[in-house]
Amino acid sequence: MIDIQSDVSLLPYNTFQVDVQAKYFVDIHQEEDLEELFETGIFAKEKHLILWWGANVLFTQDINGLVIKVSLKGIECLSWLDVSSLKSPLPPFQKGGSKVLVQAMAGEDWSGFVEYCNRKWRAGIENLIAIPGQVGTAPVSNIGAYGMEIGERVVWVEGYDLEKKEWKKFDHEECGFAYRDSIFKSELRGKFLITRVVFALEQLSEEYLFKLDYPDVQRVLEERSINILDCRASLAMTPNSLEQVSEIISEIRASKLPDPNKIGTAGSFFANPIIKKSDFDLLIQKFPELISYPHGDEVKLSAGQLIDLAGLKGYSNGKAGTSSKHALIVINEWGSAEDVLEVVEHIQIVVKEKFGVALKPEVVYI
Ligand code: EPU
Repeated sequence: MIDIQSDVSLLPYNTFQVDVQAKYFVDIHQEEDLEELFETGIFAKEKHLILWWGANVLFTQDINGLVIKVSLKGIECLSWLDVSSLKSPLPPFQKGGSKVLVQAMAGEDWSGFVEYCNRKWRAGIENLIAIPGQVGTAPVSNIGAYGMEIGERVVWVEGYDLEKKEWKKFDHEECGFAYRDSIFKSELRGKFLITRVVFALEQLSEEYLFKLDYPDVQRVLEERSINILDCRASLAMTPNSLEQVSEIISEIRASKLPDPNKIGTAGSFFANPIIKKSDFDLLIQKFPELISYPHGDEVKLSAGQLIDLAGLKGYSNGKAGTSSKHALIVINEWGSAEDVLEVVEHIQIVVKEKFGVALKPEVVYI
């Protein structure tokens, strides 16, 4: 039985801790609740906003419509997948072997899902621990960290097309995964309600290749005298090696990123900018210290470093600002969405003036 409430504060439902009101609000715990919701007059009449954990949004105004919070729960191992049977192999599948298909409902806590998989020796997402959000958000912004991107593991996404009013399944290729992007964030933003995601994970074995080459991870391994060349094998021998890796990543994140349970933040506010190689060649002559990563024919810069070099690490307008630990993290201490946006615009202007580079928000404005 669904309970549609009126005039609900969304303060508990966004990590930026912005207080806006939703005209209507409904929390969905079972797929049958959705069927019931679709029959209501409010669903037919009002605009819809889908909300998972509000970890990547900035509410800029009251929501004059129906907010649908997705709290569907459940994790299930579906089957073993013979990789050769796939029409279009996903990137990590190219090395062959069989994978475990694991289905998680959209309302599962993301980090809790990673921990569950670690405990069951299902490998492939251990580096994505401690990213705030829910399973349903993971494919939307193709969450990524420490050398892993969730799109590489998604086999299909199921849900309801709110415009066409039909259930639909998107295969990996149809999801349109790109750096911090997918069809659900672009073309289908607000139009597709994800209910379940199916991931292809690996059964942990000595052959499993951990992704440990990220500089921060290497530093911790060195500090703990773990030989980078041997650690794959030795970690894989240890029953809880996935948990060990996740623990290292969690520690790194905690040392660099503010805790969204303690302060208003949505993680990285901007995507790392991708610029033309010719523009980069000119820029690097002027700023030889710039960090860069190849990105196809283009070059990806570090937004955090640009903001830092622009002197804005720890900047504050009194209500909102950037973290003194990591310049890419915008924090909201006492402010409203306007205070956050003031900081964001200031950063964009200063970085553009200094480096000629436009910073685009990764966070979605609503
Ligand atoms: N840097 C600075 N000053 C700063 C912050 C960073 O110079 O204030 C430098 C760092 O020293 C480092 C480089 O910038 O050399 C990159 O920083 P970091 O390793 O922290 O990674 P990032 O590119 O800033 C991305 C993701 C993070 C993810 C990390 C680790 C994006 C937009 N962000 O950050 O994701 O955790 O890599 O893989 O791609 C998130 O999306 O919310 C998020 C935290």
